[in-house]
Amino acid sequence: MKADEAEDRRRIPEGLTYRPMTMDDLYDVLEIERLSFSLPWTPDMFIVEFGNDNSCRRVIVDDSDGSVLAYMIYWTVLDEAHLMSIAVHPDRRGQGLGALLIENLIAEGREAGITIFSLEVNVRNSVAIAMYERFGFRGFGLRKKYYEDTGDDALLMELKIS
Ligand SMILES: CC(C)(COP(=O)(O)OP(=O)(O)OC[C@H]1O[C@@H](n2cnc3c(N)ncnc32)[C@H](O)[C@@H]1OP(=O)(O)O)[C@@H](O)C(=O)NCCC(=O)NCCS
Repeated sequence: MKADEAEDRRRIPEGLTYRPMTMDDLYDVLEIERLSFSLPWTPDMFIVEFGNDNSCRRVIVDDSDGSVLAYMIYWTVLDEAHLMSIAVHPDRRGQGLGALLIENLIAEGREAGITIFSLEVNVRNSVAIAMYERFGFRGFGLRKKYYEDTGDDALLMELKIS
C-alpha cells in the first residue's frame, strides 16, 4: 500500500466503509438523490454510469446495516476530473461525510495524474460552495439558467493541483 492510500484509509471513521458503488447500492442512492435534488437523476442515468469507462462511482456505507449514507460520481478525462454528482443522506449531513468524499476525490485524482478538478454548483447552494472552497476550489464563471426547473445559474468551480 502506498503511503497516501494508508493516509486515506485512516480518514474513514470507525463503522463506515468507503468503496466503489455497485448496482445493489442503487436503491439507497436513488433515495438520497430524490431527497437531495429537485430534478433527481433517474435510475437509467445511474445505470448508464456503470457502462461508462470514464465514470468513477463511490459510496460511503454504514457497516451496521450496509445502507448507503453518501455517494459521488465523477468522470476522468485525460488529466481532468469532473464531479458529476455528490450527495449525503439528509439525516447524516454536517458530520463530515461530504468532506470525506471530496478528500478521496482529490486523493484518487492525484494518484491517477489528475491536475484539474471541475464541477458545476447552483449559485444558491451556499453549503456546497463552502465545502468546495474549503478544499481550494475557486469559482471561475457562470452558466446562466443552467438548472431547468428553477432557472438558477450554475457556478463553475475548479481546483488545480500540481
Ligand atoms: C453539500 C453536501 C454534500 C455537504 O455534505 P456534508 O456531509 O453535510 O458536509 P460536511 O459535514 O462534510 O461539511 C463539509 C463542509 O461543508 C460546509 N458545510 C457543511 N454544512 C454546512 C452548513 N450547514 N452551513 C454552511 N456550510 C456548511 C462547510 O464548509 C464544511 O466544512 P467545515 O465542517 O470545516 O465547516 C450535503 O449538504 C448535501 O448532500 N447536499 C445536497 C446535495 C447537494 O447540494 N450536492 C452538491 C451538488 S453540487
